[in-house]
Amino acid sequence: MTPTPVTGRVTVVGLGPGSPDSCSPEVRDLLEDASDWVGYGRYLDLAADIVEPTGQAMHRTNNRVEAERARHALDLAVEGGRVVVISSGDPGVFAMASAVMEQLDADRTLASAIEVTVHAGISAAQAAAARAGAPLGHDFCVLSLSDNLKPWALIERRLDAVGAADLVVALYNPRSRHRPDQFGLAVDVLRRHRGDTTPVVVGRSVGRPGESVRVVTLGQLAEADVQAEVDMATVVIVGSSQSTTIERAGREPWVYAPRSHPD
Ligand SMILES: C[S@@+](CC[C@H](N)C(=O)[O-])C[C@H]1O[C@@H](n2cnc3c(N)ncnc32)[C@H](O)[C@@H]1O
Repeated sequence: MTPTPVTGRVTVVGLGPGSPDSCSPEVRDLLEDASDWVGYGRYLDLAADIVEPTGQAMHRTNNRVEAERARHALDLAVEGGRVVVISSGDPGVFAMASAVMEQLDADRTLASAIEVTVHAGISAAQAAAARAGAPLGHDFCVLSLSDNLKPWALIERRLDAVGAADLVVALYNPRSRHRPDQFGLAVDVLRRHRGDTTPVVVGRSVGRPGESVRVVTLGQLAEADVQAEVDMATVVIVGSSQSTTIERAGREPWVYAPRSHPD
């Protein structure tokens, strides 16, 4: 039986890394046109810095209730809302697009009944990479180090595979107060495969007040004081065996992955 289409819609958007300028005009328009904003409170605040709210209903939730948040957004759309679900960066990278898809998968009548669209944003790794040169210029992958939604043993296996494949890797959710030591374990796994001179980009609060983008070596990343600079506002890009730095007087070096790689 064909479900009755509902008049509401869910739009899943990414704000980009933080600065209002890096949010696409399309996403701004969608924020303006929405009846409801749904998201982690901090991201609603970021959205309000980009587009001044004009009476949209605000549905603020904490960071750990993604499934409930996604379901709530779909329920609001069933009632006719023009609902925007807000993520930072890109909504498809460790963010709300998957949570919305999981809810549609759990209740497939909604997949046909509700108009859902996903709108890309600039992800943290892309923003940090652009500041540093072109560290993602060849094959790369992204990995979240958070073990909230997957076991640490799986993360270690994937890090080992990334190392063996000689891929550049962007590490999201690298280190938190609750898991201060796992980042060091992750660095140890990568050091089994990569030399200590491998370039690493440490991008913190990219595009936000207090931004810092530093280039260190993998050997330095194993040091406690360098690891102490890494937190949940940081993305860490570890180069491959082919990643190269170009020194610049008085500035952080450029880091890039060459366009061609040997056998
Ligand atoms: C839950 S993930 C969300 C990623 C987001 N959807 C994206 O595409 O950037 C949160 C992680 O993204 C990274 N991140 C997000 N914004 C960042 C920024 N402005 N600067 C550096 N890292 C950032 C950090 O690793 C943080 O722990």
